Amino acid sequence: MNISFIGCGHIAKALIKGFSADKEINIFGFDKLEDNLKWLNENGYKYLSLKACCDCSDIIFLCVRPQDMHDLCNELASGNLEDKKIISVAAGIKLDQIEKLIPRNKVYRVMPNIGSKNNLGITAVFSKNDNQELLELLKILGEAYEVDNEDQIDLHTVLLGSTPAFFYDLLHEFESRVEELIDDKDQIRVATIVFLSSLITSISKGQDLLELVESVASKGGTTEAGINFLREQRFNEIFSKAVDAGIIRARELSKD
Ligand SMILES: NC(=O)c1ccc[n+]([C@@H]2O[C@H](COP(=O)([O-])OP(=O)(O)OC[C@H]3O[C@@H](n4cnc5c(N)ncnc54)[C@H](OP(=O)(O)O)[C@@H]3O)[C@@H](O)[C@H]2O)c1
Repeated sequence: MNISFIGCGHIAKALIKGFSADKEINIFGFDKLEDNLKWLNENGYKYLSLKACCDCSDIIFLCVRPQDMHDLCNELASGNLEDKKIISVAAGIKLDQIEKLIPRNKVYRVMPNIGSKNNLGITAVFSKNDNQELLELLKILGEAYEVDNEDQIDLHTVLLGSTPAFFYDLLHEFESRVEELIDDKDQIRVATIVFLSSLITSISKGQDLLELVESVASKGGTTEAGINFLREQRFNEIFSKAVDAGIIRARELSKD
């Protein structure tokens, strides 16, 4: 199977790395940026012109920024894309908007996340076609599921696509406090990894999360003092409002 990536920036690189786990997949790319063509070349992938990518591929991933989607679709409209799956990963750009620009084609909205790079992605799919074949393919990248309402793509975009940045930012603060205990940067990172691994292990059997909170926060103790503070400050509500802010931005992008 041949897959092309138009726009080979951050998310395309993650998808390319993830799909590389399947040796039956041939990967091609096209980008306007010389650095990204160099990356393809250095990592053993072939770069072609936009037309050649489209001609040789069964599946074409459109991985440009939302504001570049209109121009790219206009460029694609003159080509013969029948029988090919056209996949947009652009946040906020509606399926109808893409279908208007490139009519008569099988278009899908796919929302991956950066975990795809290590085959630990969670990807959502929305389209008016049968998604089963595509879902099977996307499972190479990790978990994949379909949504039946396009608005859910915006929620997925932020909840699974953007929140890695929220968590990295929180971990940055966490590590800056660990620095008060450990000098060595590598050792700090090892400590963070062991700490996160223990969290993953503790939730891996479906344990109730609030029971896990209770198991750490003994009455009158240090954890209870900290968690009470977080709750007074509405920390979880702030997290949820950050998700809502992302969703509002996704809706704005669909109108730009
Ligand atoms: N990053 C994520 O974690 C993530 C997750 C899910 C979805 N997405 C979606 O993925 C898309 C790309 O995001 P990104 O973070 O990967 O952006 P990015 O790193 O900026 O990559 C986009 C690349 O596409 C190039 N490009 C623009 N127009 C083009 C065209 N007509 N033909 C070929 N290449 C073109 C850009 O070149 P120039 O810079 O020269 O314009 C740039 O190199 C966005 O729509 C975003 O919503 C991203």
